[in-house]
Amino acid sequence: MRVIRTIQQMHDYSVTAREAGKSIGFVPTMGALHNGHLMLVEKALAENDLVVCSIFVNPIQFNNSRDLEKYPRTFGKDSAMLEAIGCNVIFYPEVEEMYPEPVTHTYDFGLLDKVMEGRYRAGHFNGVAIVVKKLFDIVIPHKAYFGEKDYQQLAVIKALVKIESVDIAIIPCPIVRETDGLAMSSRNVRLTPAQRRVAPLIYQTLIKASELYLTQSVQTVIDFVTQTIHENPEMKLEYFEISDTETLAPIRENKPHGPVVACIAVFMGQVRLIDNMIFNL
Ligand code: PAF
Repeated sequence: MRVIRTIQQMHDYSVTAREAGKSIGFVPTMGALHNGHLMLVEKALAENDLVVCSIFVNPIQFNNSRDLEKYPRTFGKDSAMLEAIGCNVIFYPEVEEMYPEPVTHTYDFGLLDKVMEGRYRAGHFNGVAIVVKKLFDIVIPHKAYFGEKDYQQLAVIKALVKIESVDIAIIPCPIVRETDGLAMSSRNVRLTPAQRRVAPLIYQTLIKASELYLTQSVQTVIDFVTQTIHENPEMKLEYFEISDTETLAPIRENKPHGPVVACIAVFMGQVRLIDNMIFNL
């Protein structure tokens, strides 16, 4: 496995691979890898000749400097995990390499980056879109793999490839959960043992909410989730929304016949956890 640290070398590697007729799968990450990431890399390995995984803690997508500072950085462990499963390349650039100049571009994603995460994390999705576009230009993959845990991010990336006419297939991959249901996240390691014990309540609440959704109004489901999270002293609900799966427009009254996506963000102390589930009548 190669570790590449410069944009030029990464780009040259991909150009040469493409000229040799190789297909390239790409898994962008911020490191602190867990099984969820490894599933993305394994899927990419199964579908491509070569797989590039980037590890870059992207400063411009953090709206909270403390969160950026506290973000786990575990390159040694990450590279060992990637090597063990047969990843071909880690692209691991420095911040100065990726951002030699201040970033000024602003994307217009309409509603997609205004609701849910967008309401609480100003500029977050613009920062994600900028780095993902840069990474796509550098790695020039055929396919790029994103986890459905970040449902809204995935919607923004799909919009990004349309806006920028990028010829890369975006491959969504299902949420990977711990055995107790907690969605895998790099932030889980920051939970205290007491918080970690109760964290699966988020998933359990989504399951019960999906059952209630079959017979009750949207507002009743929202009230149930709000109340359940509120009753747990370790948790503070930031938002719970039931939304259109494509536009992410919030659904308040009439339930559509097709699927909807229920998205939740919960603070446990300083740690912010997100999760989602598709509800279907
Ligand atoms: O999902 C992530 O880890 C990040 O948002 C991404 C896509 C690697 C961009 O920094």
